[in-house]
Parts: sequence; C-alpha cells; structure tokens
Amino acid sequence: MLLYFLPLMKVIAIIPAAGLGTRMAPPGKKGQPSKQFVEINGAPILIHTLRVFARNQQVSHIMVALRKNEIEHFREQLESEKLSSKVELVEGGEHRQESVANALEKLKAANNDIVLVHDAVRPFVDDDIIGNVIREVEKHGAAIAGLPAVDTIKQVERAAEGAIITATIPRERVVQAQTPQGFRYELIKRAFDSAKADGFTGTDEASLVERMGEDVWVVMGSARNIKITTPGDLELAEFLLAQSSRRGLAG
Ligand code: C5P
Repeated sequence: MLLYFLPLMKVIAIIPAAGLGTRMAPPGKKGQPSKQFVEINGAPILIHTLRVFARNQQVSHIMVALRKNEIEHFREQLESEKLSSKVELVEGGEHRQESVANALEKLKAANNDIVLVHDAVRPFVDDDIIGNVIREVEKHGAAIAGLPAVDTIKQVERAAEGAIITATIPRERVVQAQTPQGFRYELIKRAFDSAKADGFTGTDEASLVERMGEDVWVVMGSARNIKITTPGDLELAEFLLAQSSRRGLAG
C-alpha cells in the first residue's frame, strides 16, 4: 500500500522588487536601471536572489512584485532562466509595503501557511538562514533574520549641518533587521490589513506585526546577507559572488 504524506503547510516567498532604486544612481545620473536589475556576473541581482529561493526545497511558490512596465520583459528573462514554473509576477505599489500588500492580496494560502518576505537586493541569503527562519516561524508564528550590532549605536537628532548625538543605545540590545522575515499567513495578513486601516507605513514587515503586540523572534542572519543599496555595495557583491562560485554555491 502506498502512503501519501501531505505537506502540512506551504512556504511561499514574496520578493518586493518594484523599487526605483534611486540610491544606486550616481549623483545627477537618474535613469539608471533599478538596483534589482543591475547585473552582477551576467545576471540581474533579482535573478540571483530568485535562484536561491527557486532551488530551495522548502519554498513551493515565489511571488515577485514588479513595476507594471517591467513585468513583460522580466517574464521573458524568467523563461530563459527556466525559473517561471515556481515564480508568479504581480504588480507592485508605490511603496515597499504596498508591493507586499498587492502580493498578499493575490496569494491563495491557508492560515497556517508560512509567508517569507525577502528583499530583491539580498542575493546572498542561503538555505541555512531560510531554514532557520521557517523553523522559528513554525514554533512562534513570526521570525526574522537579524545581525547583532558590532558598532556602537548612537541615537541622533538631525541638524542643519549634520547630526548631534542624543543617546548611546546599548548595542547588546540592538540587532540589524535583515530578510527573510517570516510569518504565518493569518498573522501577516491581519497585520497588513490593520496597518492599512490605520494608515501606518513601516520600513519592514516585522514592524507591522510588532504594532499588533505580537512577538517577532530573531534568528541569526549573516554578514554576507547584504542589501545591495549603493554603487559601493556592488563591488562587495561581485566579490561575494566570485567567492560563492569558487565554493560551487553561486546562483
Ligand atoms: O527602498 P528599500 O531599500 O526599502 O527597498 C527594499 C525592497 O523593496 C527592494 O527590493 C525594492 O525593490 C522593494 N520595493 C518595492 N516597491 C516599492 C519600493 C521598494 O517592491 N514601491
């Protein structure tokens, strides 16, 4: 007799990639490709990120939020990369939060399914980090990757000529939030609906869940899991990618 084991829950990744990426353009040089489309080692950063999630055995479906005018071209790229079977493209919004919200609207999921949100421009995430976030979400309902602060953290007040320190924050109480940020579907949907109703905009998904009074746990991220943001980050990204290729990990 054959026994079929049905998976108890699905893991879906949402990749917001509809940003304009103006910080990537050198001063006075607008009209550059958005940062997620800048190429490293012959492929857009977004493709490198998608390769990691596409080959991850735990992730069954990936939703990518893109600007409307970028969808068709990117679909062709996905097909040539043979990534289209697992990836669905949706239209993004004005802000990151709206882009994720649009993907959540389109998503067909059960309450206990797990949603991972991951920045398009963090291509050096790996299966260990993804697996650890998933495991913690299974236990607690909400978890993100984070990195302990090594620098001393100052709180400042912006002034016309710069910034003035107002406090020193004990660094053992600080982590730098990375992605993936993972949640049970029911929780992230409730948090997004509530933020929308209250007109709240956060800079990450966890902040929407925190404001509901729910605990969000932190698992160890990695110093390699950088968010490629400025032109300077590209050099580091190329170095990290070359390192991964040598170790046979490159996307
Ligand atoms: O602007 P920020 O660095 O927070 O962007 C993080 C991610 O959110 C990027 O992957 C970017 O493409 C995405 N984003 C989006 N829709 C927007 C703005 C940003 O999907 N309207």
